[in-house]
Order: sequence, then structure tokens, then C-alpha cells
Amino acid sequence: MTTIGIIGAGAIGSAFARALARKGLKAIISNSRGPASLVDLARELGPSITPGTREQAAAQDIVLVAVNWSKLPSALSGLPGFDGRIVIDANNPIEAPLFKPAELHGRTSSEIFTDLVPGARVVKAFNHLPAHLISDNPQAGGGQRVLFFAGDDANAKAAVGKLIEQIDFFGIDLGSLADGDELFQIPGGPLSVHNLVRVESMRRDV
Ligand SMILES: NC(=O)c1ccc[n+]([C@@H]2O[C@H](COP(=O)([O-])OP(=O)(O)OC[C@H]3O[C@@H](n4cnc5c(N)ncnc54)[C@H](OP(=O)(O)O)[C@@H]3O)[C@@H](O)[C@H]2O)c1
Repeated sequence: MTTIGIIGAGAIGSAFARALARKGLKAIISNSRGPASLVDLARELGPSITPGTREQAAAQDIVLVAVNWSKLPSALSGLPGFDGRIVIDANNPIEAPLFKPAELHGRTSSEIFTDLVPGARVVKAFNHLPAHLISDNPQAGGGQRVLFFAGDDANAKAAVGKLIEQIDFFGIDLGSLADGDELFQIPGGPLSVHNLVRVESMRRDV
């Protein structure tokens, strides 16, 4: 069975954990302050979510990272190599409270993030909607809420697409990491912050 780890237990990390918990999927969740600080959150989310260390979370088959942009280097430093495992980049190069875009020095956010997780197969996902739309029930508006994902490794994308399906969202593969940066990253992505719902079309024969 695929195991899941979460680095970052704030708005997005805990929203993702809540979506997993709703389906009884197991995950280890971590933050900068250690497992003891996450006991109440884990109790609230239910028995499938276990507090752990950053190292324990990073050792799982699929690792979602949701940390403030400026803190990503310290959150990901000193971890063993990812050795082909999947890392979901749920981050955006912008930060509360000023929401000023980060200086990327001519690189893309995915290039910078990928350098921080050596050996990982990176898939960009869970970064284009406000956190409550990830934790809320995805059966909404008469359909199924859409989550975009993008990456350069077809098998890694397929695994993340399957996970998105398992938690009842409708996943749409938008191409490579570069495509993801351009299309659904905050700030600037024309598809970012769009709360789209996939509705079954009704075909009428005449
Ligand atoms: N909020 C949204 O609606 C939203 C939407 C889309 C994308 N995003 C992106 O998601 C990412 C996270 O945003 P957020 O709103 O979830 O932030 P947040 O609520 O401030 O949570 C940040 C989390 O990162 C953890 N963290 C910080 N430094 C760490 C370290 N060295 N090691 C381990 N964990 C560390 C924090 O743990 P401690 O509290 O213990 O320090 C906290 O759990 C950002 O890149 C943001 O752009 C956010």
C-alpha cells in the first residue's frame, strides 16, 4: 500500500490531511515544532492521521510539502535523498501577509523546489485553491471539484492522479512542471484560484 507523509501542517497541509482522513487514508503529518504539537490536530482529524517528525513524513512513498515559500529550504534541508519517491509540491512563491511575489531570479518555482528535494519525482498539485476548498467536501455545485496537477514523470503523475481520485476530486493533468508553473500557480496562473466543478454532461438523443 502506498504510504503518505505531509511536511507542513498549516492551512494546506492540514486541509490535505483532512481530505485523506475523510476517506480513511493513512498519513504521517509533521511541522517544525515536532509531533507533540500536532496531537490535538491529529485527534480532530481521526485515527488515520498520525503526528510524526519531518524525517518520518519525508520517508513515505508520497510526500506532500506545504510550507511557507521562504521556509522551504530549512524544511527540506538535511533529509535523506528521495530516491525516486514522489513529492507533491503544494507551494506557491508568494507569502502572507503581504502576498508579494517571491524573487525567483529568472527561474521557475518548480525548478527551485525540485533542487530542494534531490532524487524526487515532483508533481505540482494542491496549490491552486484556497485551503478550505481542499478540506471541504469535493462533491459540490452539483458535480465534483477539480484539482489540477502537473509533472515531468508520467508514472508519478498517474499516482498523484489516482490519489486525487481516491479523495473524490476530479483531477486534470495540465502537462509538465513548466506548464503547471505557467497555468495554475499563484500568483499569475490564469487557472489559479478557479473553483471549477466537473458536471456529468447529459446527452439527449433527438
Ligand atoms: N493557505 C492557502 O490557502 C494556500 C493555498 C494554496 C497554496 N498554498 C501554499 O501552501 C504552502 C503552505 O501554506 P499554508 O497557508 O499552509 O502555510 P501555514 O498555514 O503558515 O503553514 C505552514 C506550515 O509549514 C510548517 N513549517 C515551517 N517551517 C518548517 C520546517 N522548517 N519544517 C517543517 N515544517 C515547517 C509550519 O510548521 P510550524 O507551525 O510548526 O512552524 C506550518 O505547519 C505555501 O507555499 C503556500 O503558498 C497555500
